Amino acid sequence: MLAEIEKIVRLSGKNVRESVDFTVTDKGTRENLVTSADIENEKFLKKELLELIPGSVFKGEEGDDVPVAKEGYTWIVDPIDGTTNFSRGIPEVGISVALMKDAQPYIGVVYNPFTDSMYTAQIGEGAFKNGKPIRVSNRSFEDGIFFTAWCAYDKRLSAPCFEVSERLHPRCNDIRRIGTAAVELCMLAEGAAEMYFEIRLCPWDFAAASVVLFEAGGHICSFGGPLDYDNPCPVIAGNSPKNLMSVADVVVDVFDGKRPY
Ligand code: 2AM
Ligand code: CA
Repeated sequence: MLAEIEKIVRLSGKNVRESVDFTVTDKGTRENLVTSADIENEKFLKKELLELIPGSVFKGEEGDDVPVAKEGYTWIVDPIDGTTNFSRGIPEVGISVALMKDAQPYIGVVYNPFTDSMYTAQIGEGAFKNGKPIRVSNRSFEDGIFFTAWCAYDKRLSAPCFEVSERLHPRCNDIRRIGTAAVELCMLAEGAAEMYFEIRLCPWDFAAASVVLFEAGGHICSFGGPLDYDNPCPVIAGNSPKNLMSVADVVVDVFDGKRPY
């Protein structure tokens, strides 16, 4: 199954890599973009994945936001994670395909078609990048790279996110902002970075990468509880429980113990 999904995602990556004449429109706010390549790729993935598992449910960012089925299989798909990067030719983009089984994460595939980086994982079977096993690093918080963002698509949430960065920056090695949550979380999984926080991600941004990170020995949760695969939620992750908690403590303090939405 994983090999079949990988084949489909690789094909879809070729389409994305080769699309040049795409149009760009916004989805209500000028920071929240969609291109014709996003829409075409979701159509392609929906057709191929529903054919692969007849009777499965398809949840996707571009027009297919349905609940995860309590029983059986549900796909959670972002056809292009990092649309702003893609629309400008910045080669940090992830095609993200998760397969849920009885509403639990089961398989995750994240592919950057521009760097040809294929991250794959299945629960209980380990995590891989281009077929080679990957593992989170064992770096301390002080030596850690912190991936975060400042909620570009809802700037009312930006100030507290900057405060989280301001408080953590002096305590860690440095901060990076790549612009694709799926790829950033996979970079944690391969040991390239150590901590992660974003105040609002959608399930298609993190579902596939959460399987990769979990299988690579990483830790990921939401604001005081597990990830919500049905609704937008905060996402906090770390290479170790200790480093995750160091981020979570600051996030909870900055947001006064309450999720802001
Ligand atoms: P996207 O490119 O698929 O839209 C960047 O910080 C991350 O935020 C990306 O993974 C991006 O995914 C995601 N993102 C962009 N707009 C968003 C929105 N309105 N809600 C939640 N996540 C969003
Ligand atoms: Ca997207």
